[in-house]
Amino acid sequence: MTQIVTTKAQLRTARESLPGSVAVVMTMGALHEGHLMLVRRAREIADSVVVTIFVNPLQFGPTEDYEAYPRDLAGDVALLDGLADLVFAPEVWEMYPVLPPPVSVSAGVLGTRFEGAARPGHFDGVVTVVTKLLHLIAPDAAVFGRKDAQQLAILERLVADLDLPVRIEAVDIVREESGLARSSRNAYLSAAGRDRALVLSRTIAAVQEAAPDAAAVLAVLERAGRGEGDGGEAGEVRWAYAEAVDPATFESIGPGHHGEVLVVLAAHVEGTRLLDATTLVVSG
Ligand code: PAF
Repeated sequence: MTQIVTTKAQLRTARESLPGSVAVVMTMGALHEGHLMLVRRAREIADSVVVTIFVNPLQFGPTEDYEAYPRDLAGDVALLDGLADLVFAPEVWEMYPVLPPPVSVSAGVLGTRFEGAARPGHFDGVVTVVTKLLHLIAPDAAVFGRKDAQQLAILERLVADLDLPVRIEAVDIVREESGLARSSRNAYLSAAGRDRALVLSRTIAAVQEAAPDAAAVLAVLERAGRGEGDGGEAGEVRWAYAEAVDPATFESIGPGHHGEVLVVLAAHVEGTRLLDATTLVVSG
């Protein structure tokens, strides 16, 4: 039976009675199979599983529709039944008695690149809420998906740089049968949009094929970014970036690069910003 709590005081009491090691999965709700994979992974690596459901206003920009973000607590809780031991679903005022909070956490320079450049302040909002939830839940492990690759890299830095006593567990991207990376945002796409969006997963497949040749990987990404990739015709898919970066610094790599690289993609399809990513080992 999954217990649901909404206040910090209830959370504290419920947390104390959780047996053994604890893994947390943090979400903004509107759960889908991608989230459930994270919860199943949490179940594998810990004795008890906590899921948080909180649409965090701090990570939405002034032009992003925080109010319109999908919310379905009853549906989410039904999906988690039997999978999570405890669900923490606070109201905004419970997390932020003063909004914006006068003191918050900064994602630093990593938070200003790629997704952070397009969404100023977004990653500061993410690291602030994640830090608070880690303190409130005190888990042994926190499970995050690799699709939000920059978020994952920043959270790994957060834990290392602030010496937070938690292990980050990364879970591979969950894909639909078509190859499309699972995301709450896919719900905004029409059937034609879902087809067009496959240019992202096809680009991922193409760079995986081009590896380990760094120059060939970069050539695939350059073509994709210019809209010359398979299916990425101008007007249908608007690329934000298609880059190979150093996974630690998010600096773009050159054709002479050796070692691990992260390929990060972002494109707008029917006005919806979609992400995809993969890790490769290349040699120049
Ligand atoms: O990835 C998300 O859904 C959010 O950024 C997170 C980690 C739950 C913080 O609000």
